[in-house]
Amino acid sequence: MSRLCFAPEIADEKVRRNAVQRLRELRVSLPTLTQLADPNLIPDQQQAAVSGVDPDEPLAANLWRVHWFNDAARTRRVDIPGYLVLPEALTGVKAKIVVALGRRFPMIAAHKVLAAYGCLVPRLVTGRFDPTRHRAIWPSTGNYCRGGVAISRTLGCRGVAVLPAGMSKERFEWLERWVSDPSDIIRTPGTESNVKEIYDKCAELARDGDNVILNQFSEFGNYLVHYYCTGRALDRIYAGLRRGAPALRLSVFVAATGSAGTIAAGDYLKAAHGTKIAAVEAVECPTMLYNGYGEHNIQGIGDKHIPLIHNVMNTDIVAGVSDRGSDALNLLFNDAVGRAYLTKRQKLDPALVKALVDIGLSGNANIIAAIKIARHFELGESDAIITIATDGAELYDSERASYLKRNYPKGFDEVHAGEAFGRHLQAITDDHLIELTHVDRQRIFNLGYYTWVEQQGVPVDDFDRRRNPAFWSELQAAIPAWDQLIERFNGDSGAVSAA
Ligand SMILES: Cc1ncc(COP(=O)(O)O)c(C=O)c1O
Repeated sequence: MSRLCFAPEIADEKVRRNAVQRLRELRVSLPTLTQLADPNLIPDQQQAAVSGVDPDEPLAANLWRVHWFNDAARTRRVDIPGYLVLPEALTGVKAKIVVALGRRFPMIAAHKVLAAYGCLVPRLVTGRFDPTRHRAIWPSTGNYCRGGVAISRTLGCRGVAVLPAGMSKERFEWLERWVSDPSDIIRTPGTESNVKEIYDKCAELARDGDNVILNQFSEFGNYLVHYYCTGRALDRIYAGLRRGAPALRLSVFVAATGSAGTIAAGDYLKAAHGTKIAAVEAVECPTMLYNGYGEHNIQGIGDKHIPLIHNVMNTDIVAGVSDRGSDALNLLFNDAVGRAYLTKRQKLDPALVKALVDIGLSGNANIIAAIKIARHFELGESDAIITIATDGAELYDSERASYLKRNYPKGFDEVHAGEAFGRHLQAITDDHLIELTHVDRQRIFNLGYYTWVEQQGVPVDDFDRRRNPAFWSELQAAIPAWDQLIERFNGDSGAVSAA
């Protein structure tokens, strides 16, 4: 294992004892990665403890819901994760576009709570985080720091959110309710693509040894939890679909990249099914496409750099999507006039139209990218393109209101809805899309040098190691060892053994 990430070995017995003691006092046990990947393996006793618990409360029982297999109410477990299949009448393409619903995760209603779990727990179980002393610092543009604050709080740890001041009002309102002290929300200058400012703040905070920075862009726990838990959950969706359509191929996995955690699920799906992996970014900030930069409103993605945990050399496609499209769909899918247009004029199933509320801005971008890809590769009805809605539209009500005011000051009517449908769905082409050659992959990989080696001081040989597929398979091979450490920790804290 390189210096980029730590091995599944205990680093400090005393620190670990403090963590064991804290979780013993709180009577908290930790799910293993395998249980989160396949919640059928959750012991009955744990599952019973979850029953009747509000999914939005900061209660440890909700740790057992940090997986994709929650029902729409987020209270019960289901055999197949929640997803939508978008029909041709909406997408204009024959390929099945399948959207997995991250909104069904507990506490933050977004799947980033899984990433946060995957970053903090490896530290706890190896004695790298002392809840009696350390603060968990969660730098992000929104959902990851909410997930971090939720996970810290349920695990009896102090969590601090670091995010740009320009992020959505809904994110700040949530944080204000969840942090133990208002000073645990740190606002940095800018908006979505101002990650450098977040890093600068973290560098300042890191000077205090009690602050542990959990940088999602470089924490390989983020890679691993998505590789395994998200990868297997998506595979389960595919297996369910294939039961009714045995010839269905899992052709492409599409993920808009912020930290590039989610896209790790593509490594799992590619190994299992030969699925192509597509990374999505905003054309207003085309870092992978054109080494470009800029501002955009696809909140959660596109941060003007290449994350250290992005397995670039295994990525096959980059698709650029304009935030004009994701903003327009946010209005069309969630405004009463837009919905009436979709059901009455386009004859879409009212239940499906209602369910589109589970798709936030980056989910809309993923759908647009999936349509581009279907068109580019001329995919047909035996092709499935699987993608993600990290969060739902309710996190963007204020964004929708301001978009409406700016663009339709006299109101949004049926003609506007038809225009939005025509322009932002039916007229999608394969512009701003590249199939990556080896040279393209090298170009994108090398761009990461400036962030990680020059700016953040990662040794160049460690940086380069990630070109080799063996680096990633070594990480993946460590999953059983991580599970064992979690089980041992539960055993020592007196919590139920993760059988
Ligand atoms: C709404 C939203 N979409 C997409 C992403 C990108 O996911 P990832 O960071 O796993 O690449 C994020 C990340 O925070 C997000 O909050």
